[in-house]
Amino acid sequence: MIPEGPIGALRAAGHVMLLTGAGISAESGLATFRAPLTGLWENFNPMDFATLHAFESDPALVWGWYEWRRMRVMQAEPNDGHLAITALQRKLNGLSLITQNVDDLHERAGSHFVRHLHGTIQQPRCMACGKAHTLPPGIPVEPDGGRKVEPPRRRDCGSLIRPGVVWFGESLPRKEWEAAEQAARQCDVFFCIGTSGVVEPAASLLRLASARGAITVQINTEDTGLEDRVTYNLRGPAAVVLPELVRHL
Ligand code: OAD
Repeated sequence: MIPEGPIGALRAAGHVMLLTGAGISAESGLATFRAPLTGLWENFNPMDFATLHAFESDPALVWGWYEWRRMRVMQAEPNDGHLAITALQRKLNGLSLITQNVDDLHERAGSHFVRHLHGTIQQPRCMACGKAHTLPPGIPVEPDGGRKVEPPRRRDCGSLIRPGVVWFGESLPRKEWEAAEQAARQCDVFFCIGTSGVVEPAASLLRLASARGAITVQINTEDTGLEDRVTYNLRGPAAVVLPELVRHL
């Protein structure tokens, strides 16, 4: 049951911002990062897989792991949460969709202008010049957890191709971050959906929106510690809560 507050806030809002995290894709079968037992960071040490140092030390280990994750993304389908966000984007005039996810499930659900704060797994790039690299079509076939796979190299200069994601210690893509910051400073209603809210600077967007006086809403299956900082806390799976919210609009 959705309380009237967030529904009224959405109806009245001129600008709505949504920040999504791994939880929005959980019901598409993609692992989150911090879930006990199944979370990626419960089973793989981020320092071995998600840093520049890790890639430089063992490029094949890191590339193989991202190919395994890319395979999982390509096998997944958008869920009702992704589809509800697309419906929301069509219903409302101003909606900024910012995600920490590297999958393309928002896009495949039909959402437009998705800002990826942590990069996109389908768009690797050259280590030396940053130029985008086109991967061969088709789904890579990787065993669970990946195996070592040599990353491709640029044909002209021989430089290694790296995954198109943001690693620990790296800056966020400037344009994406600026758009996210601006949206947080301007929105009337801010939703954080399926994120633990522990990774900076993405986590600071909620603080920015609150400071601007926006109504803030969390959608999550668990407590995150943000409950006292948001105006409304909607407990439940995003794939259930979001469609219900859209139905009431
Ligand atoms: P986390 O794994 O930290 O958090 C996922 C959140 O989703 C948790 O709070 C869960 O309770 C919630 N959740 C799980 N299933 C859900 C569902 N069906 N509906 C709603 N909520 C659900 O993932 P993120 O917060 O996205 O960064 O993690 C942030 C960043 O940390 C990631 O982008 C990644 C990681 O290190 C990089 O790799 C740079």
